[in-house]
Amino acid sequence: MSITIAISNHKGGVGKTTTCVNLGAGLALLDKKILLIDLDPQANLTQSYGISKPDSSIYEALKGEQEAVVLNLNNNLDLIPSTLDLAGAEMELNSEAGREYILDEIISPIKDQYDYVLIDCPPSLGLLTINAFTAADEVIIPIQAHFLAIKGLTKIIEVINKVKKRLNKKLIITGVVVTLFDKRKILHRDVVETIVTYFQDKVYNTRIRQNVALAEAPTQGVDIFRYQIKSNGAEDYKNLSTEFLQKRK
Ligand SMILES: Nc1ncnc2c1ncn2[C@@H]1O[C@H](COP(=O)(O)OP(=O)(O)O)[C@@H](O)[C@H]1O
Ligand SMILES: [Mg+2]
Repeated sequence: MSITIAISNHKGGVGKTTTCVNLGAGLALLDKKILLIDLDPQANLTQSYGISKPDSSIYEALKGEQEAVVLNLNNNLDLIPSTLDLAGAEMELNSEAGREYILDEIISPIKDQYDYVLIDCPPSLGLLTINAFTAADEVIIPIQAHFLAIKGLTKIIEVINKVKKRLNKKLIITGVVVTLFDKRKILHRDVVETIVTYFQDKVYNTRIRQNVALAEAPTQGVDIFRYQIKSNGAEDYKNLSTEFLQKRK
C-alpha cells in the first residue's frame, strides 16, 4: 500500500527540501519506489535535481489543464516538478469548489505505483499546504536545532488538527526530524531536549548534522549520495532512511 507524506514546517530554511531530496533518494536506494512532489512555488526541490524550466509542472495539474507529468530522476525515483507559476495558484484556486482536495485528486490515480509519495511543502500554511495535508496519510516535520525552533509550532499542529477534523480523518504526524544539528553546541542539545519532550517518540533518533556537502549537492543537480557518499550528510540521511523503514515494521 502506498503512503503519502507531507514534509512541512511553515518556517523556511529548516531543511524540508533537503530532507525530501535525500530521504527520497535514501529510500530509493533501499529499493522503495518513491514519487517526489514539489509543491513549493520556489521550486527548490525541482532545481535541486538540476531542472530549471520543466515543460510541465504540478501547477498545470492543479489548474486542471492537464494530468500531472511525472519525470524519472533515477532508479526508483520520480518527480512532479514545480515552477514559479505556482505562486499564483493559491489565489487562482481559491474560488474552486473542493479546492482543498485538488492535489489528492491528482495523486490518487498514480500513487499506487509507489511505496511512498513525499510532498515538499512551501514555507506557509496556505491552500497549497492544506492540499498536501488533505492528500497525505502522514506529516513529517523537519525542525532546525535553533533556539526559536519550537516557537510557532503550535500553529502547524493547529492546522494539522483542523485538516484532520474536517478534511482528512486519517492524517497523523509520524515523524519529527532534527536538522542542521551541531552536537558541540550546548544550545542545540537543549533545543533537541525540548523537541523530544514535546514530540516524544515521534522524534527520529537520527539527527541530521550540519554538513556543507548537503548545501553543495543541489548546485550539482544531484542528491547527497551521488554528490559525496562519504559525507556526514550521506551517512545521516542513510540512517534516517533506515530508521524511517524500521519504525514502520
Ligand atoms: N544539514 C544541513 N547542513 C548544511 N546545510 C543544510 C542542511 N540542511 C539544509 N541545508 C541548507 O540550508 C538551506 C535551507 O534548507 P532547505 O532544505 O532548503 O530548507 P526549507 O526547504 O525548509 O526552506 C539550503 O541552502 C540547504 O542547502
Ligand atoms: Mg524548501
